[in-house]
Amino acid sequence: MNDCVECHTVSVATVGPSWIAVAERYKSLLRIEARNILIESVKKGSKGKWLTMKSAGGMPPLEERVSGADIDEFSGFYSVSESDIQ
Ligand code: HEC
Repeated sequence: MNDCVECHTVSVATVGPSWIAVAERYKSLLRIEARNILIESVKKGSKGKWLTMKSAGGMPPLEERVSGADIDEFSGFYSVSESDIQ
């Protein structure tokens, strides 16, 4: 997931929201639902859901740049951070 760090960090909102903020926002959903939403956002792009300082352009679709393994790694990370912050 090398490209993600251009715009995301674990705990500080930069261009995009921090991973902790993402986990916090979706933690009330079933993990499978959250996973589907987030994978969709990463593949197709996302705009207007987060108002971070520089996010006006939103996140571009990254389907071309992310492999299935990366997406699984990301959803694994999501479940880790979800349990970390509870
Ligand atoms: C060019 C900058 C940029 C890159 C590169 C980028 N993101 Fe984002 N990301 C954003 C922005 C901006 C948002 C907020 C979008 C919005 O407001 O809807 C976002 C939002 C998200 C969200 C929350 C989506 C939602 O539905 O709430 C996730 C998850 C995410 N990014 C994952 C990733 C992953 C994984 C990668 C790497 C494969 C990545 N991003 C690469 C800018 C980026």
